[in-house]
Amino acid sequence: EKEPLRVLITGAAGQIGYALAPMVARGVMLGPDQPIILHLLDIQPAAEVLNAVKMELIDAAFPLLQGVIATTDVVEACMGVNIAIMVGGFPRKEGMERKDVMSKNVEIYKAQASALEKHAVENCKVLVVANPANTNALILKEFAPSIPEKNITCLTRLDHNRALAQISERLDVPVGDVKNVIIWGNHSSTQYPDVNHATVTTGSGEKSVRQLVADDQWLNNEFITTVQQRGAAIIKARKLSSALSAASAACDHVHDWVLGTPKGTWVSMGVYSDGSYGIQPGLIYSFPVTCEKGEWSIVKGLKIEEFSRKKMDATAKELMDEKSFAYSCLK
Ligand code: NAI
Repeated sequence: EKEPLRVLITGAAGQIGYALAPMVARGVMLGPDQPIILHLLDIQPAAEVLNAVKMELIDAAFPLLQGVIATTDVVEACMGVNIAIMVGGFPRKEGMERKDVMSKNVEIYKAQASALEKHAVENCKVLVVANPANTNALILKEFAPSIPEKNITCLTRLDHNRALAQISERLDVPVGDVKNVIIWGNHSSTQYPDVNHATVTTGSGEKSVRQLVADDQWLNNEFITTVQQRGAAIIKARKLSSALSAASAACDHVHDWVLGTPKGTWVSMGVYSDGSYGIQPGLIYSFPVTCEKGEWSIVKGLKIEEFSRKKMDATAKELMDEKSFAYSCLK
């Protein structure tokens, strides 16, 4: 019998929290034999809803769920956590610019960084989901200097999964047969979904996506903008964020990080740049990574064409601007 792992979900009374908490409690994130204690944090105005979420989690009688702590106290929430999923924040609503939400969020992430640093376990793994995800993660990293920087990541797996799904729909093949797309850069509309190294497993071996799709016009234009704009399209249609697919992607991100990526497969994660592919250190940037024994490493040596280079640099530039804007918002 394994020891339970403590998983913190901030913003747990919100849309993503409601989809994510039961997935974690069912073993989707950490495996079917890993007991879980959920730590759910939200703010005072959401306390009653948060408590209702706790009641439902208890009522679901998940065999892996060994405890639920629902609290508005950030110290209690962070105490002893092994995995922290940072979903809480001030969300972008329809028609709102990401920049409008920046100043509210940097203050939240600065404060929560300190609580995690003081109270989480030493090797706590952090996934930031709340937007602006890369920059929130960077603020968290900078204000929690004792947490190893490799432990602080942000979610671009949803964009990665959306890219796999677009290819699967276009080619009418099972999505599980498509792999090795890449999301480069920011979780925003400047992200670069790159299919140049992506493949499909077919009856006659692995084939390149570019070769199978055989429509560079579509791949270089509509495919990219569809993935970039997918979050906005769902907000427009649902009047709420893409909570189901975001929760699922958060599970995929942590699952692969902790339990490893399949041989020959990489995934996209927002991680602290080590200067790979000429992306300046000091940014949380989405790269292709493989994971083994709980550690990610950036896939090196991929050939980068001129078209890709420009898009990778443009999204890096946006992240640099976001970083300075975030710092100017800090009191
Ligand atoms: P939501 O508004 O339904 O939930 C957010 C929750 O955070 C609310 O319950 C709110 O009370 C809580 N909260 C606010 N301040 C907090 C604080 N200081 N501490 C703890 N909790 C706090 O929003 P939703 O739809 O669940 O989205 C959450 C975030 O995830 C948003 O920022 C959204 O933009 C982002 N998102 C990111 C995606 C990604 O792929 N990285 C995809 C979809 C959404």
